Amino acid sequence: MYRQYYQRFLSANKDVQHFSCHSHHYWPDVTRDGMLEYWDDCAKYVDEKWSHFFQHKIPQTQRLIAENLNISNPSQITFAPNTHEFVFRLLSCLDLRKPQRIITTDSEFHTFQRQIKRLNEWENIEVIAVPQSPVETFESRFCEALHEDADLVFFSHVFFNSGHICGDLDKIVNHVKNSDTIVAIDGYHGFMAIPTDLGSIENRVFYIAGGYKYAQGGEGCCFITVPTNCALRPLYTGWFAEFNALAAPRSDQVAYSSSGYRFAGATMDYSAIYRLHAVLSLFKKEGISVSQIHEFIQQRQQLFLAHIDTLDHPYLNRQSLLFQSAMDHGHFLTFVLPSVEIADQLQQQLNTHMIQTDCRGDRLRFGFALYHDGDYDLRQAFS
Ligand SMILES: Cc1ncc(COP(=O)(O)O)c(C=O)c1O
Repeated sequence: MYRQYYQRFLSANKDVQHFSCHSHHYWPDVTRDGMLEYWDDCAKYVDEKWSHFFQHKIPQTQRLIAENLNISNPSQITFAPNTHEFVFRLLSCLDLRKPQRIITTDSEFHTFQRQIKRLNEWENIEVIAVPQSPVETFESRFCEALHEDADLVFFSHVFFNSGHICGDLDKIVNHVKNSDTIVAIDGYHGFMAIPTDLGSIENRVFYIAGGYKYAQGGEGCCFITVPTNCALRPLYTGWFAEFNALAAPRSDQVAYSSSGYRFAGATMDYSAIYRLHAVLSLFKKEGISVSQIHEFIQQRQQLFLAHIDTLDHPYLNRQSLLFQSAMDHGHFLTFVLPSVEIADQLQQQLNTHMIQTDCRGDRLRFGFALYHDGDYDLRQAFS
């Protein structure tokens, strides 16, 4: 029923069973129109193209994102080519010359993990990383850790290495008592996959996500939501952060935008925003909500599990699933295999038969997408 939107990617990959959609999602056909529209707008507006982007495409895209996250002030949303830019911009709001405490988890994506590890080489940076496992108690253990005062709290909505949903976002955020603490959520595995309502925390948290995964617009378009009246002055700042800036408090100081643009960097390729805009507009026009998408994916996951039940495979079976319940996790299923070698070998065996998955250590991940017809068949790889 949704496959009609993905004709080009599907016909270019006719014999592929694509399960790595949680990493590299197929793009709906409308993204191609978006790319062409970008080219045409560049040709049409030339020198004026930036004012066209800022007056039309950006506010429209901000509104579409805001609707999906229930954010009341779309102008608080800012774009960058990747999440790393935002992660480092947030870190640059800390006074890194002084002692800083960061509370996070042991399961953040490399973008944060590597950066924080590097910073942690300095003695003044203290990092408290709460283990994700056991997942059943993660929420309460993380809330408990938040009794310590922190300068930055950073955690994922859906963990990239398991698919586990961290818990109740409002509850976790409300455990941070110091209003000066910066609270950031990595929403990449949740945005456009898990119904997310930031309504009651939009003025407390920085939520980061992007177009590469479930938003289906491809690479190059990430965004951050910035609390209204945010007065932070990122050290890592580009000239776009000055748009609509109020006068700086002191004449020797750098001025920042009063909107979310205070978290902006500099010139970027806006074609990715055109693609994201095209997908979110399609979903809006067709009345496809995140709740519907989530429900559809959960059904596909059940069909997939029913299929692997018939395989009688020693490793790929319900017993090796990281989570037995399909109801409380993201859009990929994680199988824990006896070793990294076995996981690699199985992934390659599947890949030889055009069954595309991905591996994280000993974990083999199968992602699910709107373009899956549910007619799963892995038998060819095991015959
Ligand atoms: C949880 C999470 N955050 C962020 C990213 C992307 O990071 P970046 O945009 O810095 O490449 C990914 C994966 O691609 C991810 O899985």
